Amino acid sequence: MCGIVGAIADRDVVPVLIEGLKRLEYRGYDSAGIAVVNDRDVRRVRRTGRVAEMADAAAAEGFHASLGIGHTRWATHGGVTEANAHPHISHGIALVHNGIIENHEEQREKLGALGYAFESQTDTEVIAHLIHHHLKQGNGDLLGALQRVVKELTGAYALAVISRAEPGRMVCARMGCPLLIGLGEGENFVASDVSAVVQATRNVVFLEEGDTAEVARDGVRVYDRNDQPVERETHVSSVSLSSLELGPYRHFMQKEIHEQPRAIGDTIEATIDGGFVPELFGRNAAAVLEGIEGVQILACGTSYYAGLTARYWIEGMAGMPCSVEIASEYRYRQAYADPKHLVVTISQSGETLDTMEALKHAKSLGRAHTLSICNVPESAIPRASELVCYTRAGAEIGVASTKAFTTQLAALFQLAVVLAKLRGRLGADDEAQCLEQLRQLPGGVQQALNLEPQVVAWAEKFAAKQNALFLGRGLHYPIALEGALKLKEISYIHAEAYPAGELKHGPLALVDSAMPVVVIAPNNSLLEKVKSNMQEVRARGGELFVFADQDSNFGESEGVHVIRTPRHVGLLSPVVHTIPVQLLAYHTALARGTDVDKPRNLAKSVTVE
Ligand code: AGP
Repeated sequence: MCGIVGAIADRDVVPVLIEGLKRLEYRGYDSAGIAVVNDRDVRRVRRTGRVAEMADAAAAEGFHASLGIGHTRWATHGGVTEANAHPHISHGIALVHNGIIENHEEQREKLGALGYAFESQTDTEVIAHLIHHHLKQGNGDLLGALQRVVKELTGAYALAVISRAEPGRMVCARMGCPLLIGLGEGENFVASDVSAVVQATRNVVFLEEGDTAEVARDGVRVYDRNDQPVERETHVSSVSLSSLELGPYRHFMQKEIHEQPRAIGDTIEATIDGGFVPELFGRNAAAVLEGIEGVQILACGTSYYAGLTARYWIEGMAGMPCSVEIASEYRYRQAYADPKHLVVTISQSGETLDTMEALKHAKSLGRAHTLSICNVPESAIPRASELVCYTRAGAEIGVASTKAFTTQLAALFQLAVVLAKLRGRLGADDEAQCLEQLRQLPGGVQQALNLEPQVVAWAEKFAAKQNALFLGRGLHYPIALEGALKLKEISYIHAEAYPAGELKHGPLALVDSAMPVVVIAPNNSLLEKVKSNMQEVRARGGELFVFADQDSNFGESEGVHVIRTPRHVGLLSPVVHTIPVQLLAYHTALARGTDVDKPRNLAKSVTVE
């Protein structure tokens, strides 16, 4: 969602801000702006639409400065207008904000009574006025005023603030939203995401909840929630610049779909080398995993579907109860909380607010043991978890999650095997077979990618449709859900997924000759049941598009189109069957001319409720 970048240097920081904002574009936004301090004045440029348009305006107006902040906004409070775009300014103080201020109405009223006039409908503008109000009262300098103001705010924020009165520093604060400081040589940066500063430095300090900081050219000082100076560790970011660039591809989604054999290979590398050991999930994992008696998975969107798939593996292999719940529901429920159940959060970004809050809620209910499966090192959710397993997909830029999902599946499969082993439910032969299936997985995924030309032909038909149904059974039902989500997310075709057996309990009423029905039908114990469900569709004139593996023994006939996926790869079959549904969504969106990487109304990291 929203993104922050700030810089102070001897050089002109405007190109740094623009570059940083461009690298934050993937998070989703609808307006952008920068503010700089120059000659003891604050100048600002804001535009709705793309960063490039705002950058052109900044260039036309001759923006150059050695101190500045920038922002990409995804509208929450107030529409997509220039007046609502950040930075917001009050009497020479400019600030950018990620998050939501929940008591903004109360603050707005208070500030109105003090004579402050508002130019925007945002929750953010109150913060700029509050800082000015405290400075006017003589309550310290910019940092001191910010430290007072944040204590008056409820909600979530990452803030970066500059003032024409203090051209030698930026000040910043974080609570509930990520913010980091990038350490350069004689220059320093702030950002909500390491990708915004990685072109300038890899040395980063992650602010903790409640921290404030002052960032000058020659140094950085961090203060804890009690305003006491505090040391925070410096990390060296491993984000690679090439993962942030498109290379020969047309879209990041396309690039990320094709990166999956490599991404899965990297994620399973440690297991291929060292076997299914608890340490894959952290140094103390053996002690924790040996003592648990069940698993509770919490996640959102695609990550939730990864969790639904994992339930089949964990219950089937490890023989322990596994429940899976959408994080935004769990967080508001007085759920039954067995302290012997491991809470597993799954999140690509590691900063999804609902998942983070669900994790906190689980802890507050007495859940002692937590594991985060995450793709972004050092992000908030793994940092709040006892055990961590990082998927090694590399930066995922496309809003539609692809390689993050299949690497999550690879990690969760490994978790299920480790749990099964610890519970004495996996013999040496079974374990060897699991290892072999895992070893073959990147190759199976590559073969599925080779189906692309056939999927393109289907996508041309789908592009003209208004609706689509996806069906699967058992382990492949979550893949049907994922296929429907991908299609609706980027092509805007209404798509729903059902367990195929559920069809006759309602959704069959939707089936007619205009309804394409995608079926995931690998050769497993449910295949004959799926075939019966397909007959139900054909009998109502529905057109079937079937992904069936080499052993499924399917033939094409009128109204039944079949693409043969690679030979069945056992329990990991859902991973292989994910590839064609991703390709179908991608090529359908392409044929419809939508903005594949930045679909309307969506953001990559959902950092608000
Ligand atoms: C996936 O294509 C979506 N963009 C979305 O459902 C996503 O998976 C969800 O918002 C969860 O994100 P996370 O994995 O970063 O927590």
